[in-house]
Amino acid sequence: MEFPAYIRHDKIKSWIEETVALCKPDAVYFCDGSPEEYDRMCQTLVDSGTFIKLNESLRPNSFLARSDPSDVARMEDRTFICSLSKNEAGPTNNWMDPREMHKELEGRFDGSMRGRTMYVIPFSMGPMGSNIAYCGIELSDSAYVVVNMKIMTRMGKAVWDVLGEDGFYVPCVHSVGMPLEPGQADITWPCQKDAASKYIVHFPEERAIWSYGSGYGGNALLGKKCFALRIASNLARDEGWLAEHMLIMGVEAPNGEKTYVAAAFPSACGKTNFAMLIPPKAFQEDGWKVTTVGDDIAWIKPGPDGRLYAINPEAGYFGVAPGTNTKTNPNAMATIAKNTIFTNVGLTPEGDVWWEGMTDTPPASLIDWTGQAWTPDSGRKAAHPNARFTAPAAQCPSIDPNWEDPAGVPIKAFIFGGRRSTVTPLVFQAFNWTYGVYYAATMGSEMTAAAFGKMGEVRRDPFAMLPFIGYHMASYFNHWMQFGRHIQNPPRIFIVNWFRKDADGKFLWPGFGENMRVLKWIVDRSNTRAPGAETPLGRVPLYEDMDWRGLNFSKSDFEGVMSVDREMWKNEILSHEELFIKLYDRLPKELLNVRELLLSSLWSQPQWLDRHE
Ligand code: OXD
Ligand code: MN
Repeated sequence: MEFPAYIRHDKIKSWIEETVALCKPDAVYFCDGSPEEYDRMCQTLVDSGTFIKLNESLRPNSFLARSDPSDVARMEDRTFICSLSKNEAGPTNNWMDPREMHKELEGRFDGSMRGRTMYVIPFSMGPMGSNIAYCGIELSDSAYVVVNMKIMTRMGKAVWDVLGEDGFYVPCVHSVGMPLEPGQADITWPCQKDAASKYIVHFPEERAIWSYGSGYGGNALLGKKCFALRIASNLARDEGWLAEHMLIMGVEAPNGEKTYVAAAFPSACGKTNFAMLIPPKAFQEDGWKVTTVGDDIAWIKPGPDGRLYAINPEAGYFGVAPGTNTKTNPNAMATIAKNTIFTNVGLTPEGDVWWEGMTDTPPASLIDWTGQAWTPDSGRKAAHPNARFTAPAAQCPSIDPNWEDPAGVPIKAFIFGGRRSTVTPLVFQAFNWTYGVYYAATMGSEMTAAAFGKMGEVRRDPFAMLPFIGYHMASYFNHWMQFGRHIQNPPRIFIVNWFRKDADGKFLWPGFGENMRVLKWIVDRSNTRAPGAETPLGRVPLYEDMDWRGLNFSKSDFEGVMSVDREMWKNEILSHEELFIKLYDRLPKELLNVRELLLSSLWSQPQWLDRHE
């Protein structure tokens, strides 16, 4: 095989040759990552019907893709952690013996790229050359993957210089699983329609990823969930750092002091909105600013000064479109104004995009995500609920000036939050690292889609990592405990809940930009200034500790959103047992002790609880 002269890494060359021999593509193309290549490939996708070019004056240099209806989201049932031992993957992951899985995949991948081109996609997760960043090579038969990887990662030729002759890389093999017979016409979204024929597979010990049968999102853009979370969590454990499902944001105070925080929320809790928050007017006038480093993933390493430094390993946003609008997230709307790939949204007669919630009044007619004519009374959704935009991070108006700093940004606080209509108050601070790990480990979120259980049911989603941890969940808790023991200046840990509702199902907290009020208290506490009261759960702000200018939110409103019902908390803590029993064999003993303490102390400060009941 002919390789470009700039590829000097023999191990990668052999691996590419082996993969070519297995998948049998008609051609191999080495991506250089140039803007010309991006434009050329987008044009090829337009010519083949996979992309529809959007109206150049309304949405410059942007495209719409419609996936197969069977291929619209991550597939947790088809995601495997194939560690050597089953126990290493733990009870929360699907496992298969790696030898058997390799056999299965060899059968699937044999000839899977016939009639197609195999693209060699070199990419860096994180600023190239940063000591927190890592490289990967994805071999894929999807041009859609190439252009999305160009936006989502640092993709291109320069990666080969970082790799040199023997640099570390994560090998990623991806096929849509639809080879073409000679003369067979392609379709616009090739994939394996049958769910059981899709495989998203991780080999933790090999640090390798194989994905078959899906062309969508996290199943196919292997740098994101597969590499930056599942494989990276293994690297992080072995090397003593953290790979987390966290956004990173900067908060600048009027005096110029900058505080960075990282926050973990389960999917569908508005992470992108929080990461791009615009402070209320009164805060802006004072000089408060919020900046965005990342909206989904954080890689965090201890620095020489004992503080933790984080990078966003990604270079773009792969955000959920429905619900995004100029009120919920003006920064996201500005980010996707141009140079954006949309997948599974509606197409307006003017050649622009639309999705549920984008405007108050829907267009009178459009073409929906399945390619059919649609009107507001057609009884169907114009966009798939998991429709996405892929947009360059640099286009975000709130992008942090240091977002590409190879050294990362120093993290002062970790925030954990789920979607809970009851039980969890708006905000509290864990007493210390151990309590923080307890709360993060037992985090739960109510289901907003029926995909993972009953609607409204609480799914335990420890650290928002349930679908993303690449090894035994309880070993991951241990890693956090161990990690905390050795940092000189551990970030403070906070729990938030933007989703409290009253008995009639009405949200008690306005959310969105108003979350700045909570964030300010968190930032102040992280810098050890803001007051707070001690409760059995942790430290909380009192009404007068928060800045309410410009919002009509009374003391009794605040007590509503902060209230802790003793009976509910007791049941909540008791319900953690289910998770702990599942993870019993590796559960850190501290967590059991914290549980006992929380239970017994619920009765120790009745005056505080009564005040908030
Ligand atoms: C995501 C997710 O798409 O967490 O980021 O599901
Ligand atoms: Mn995510």
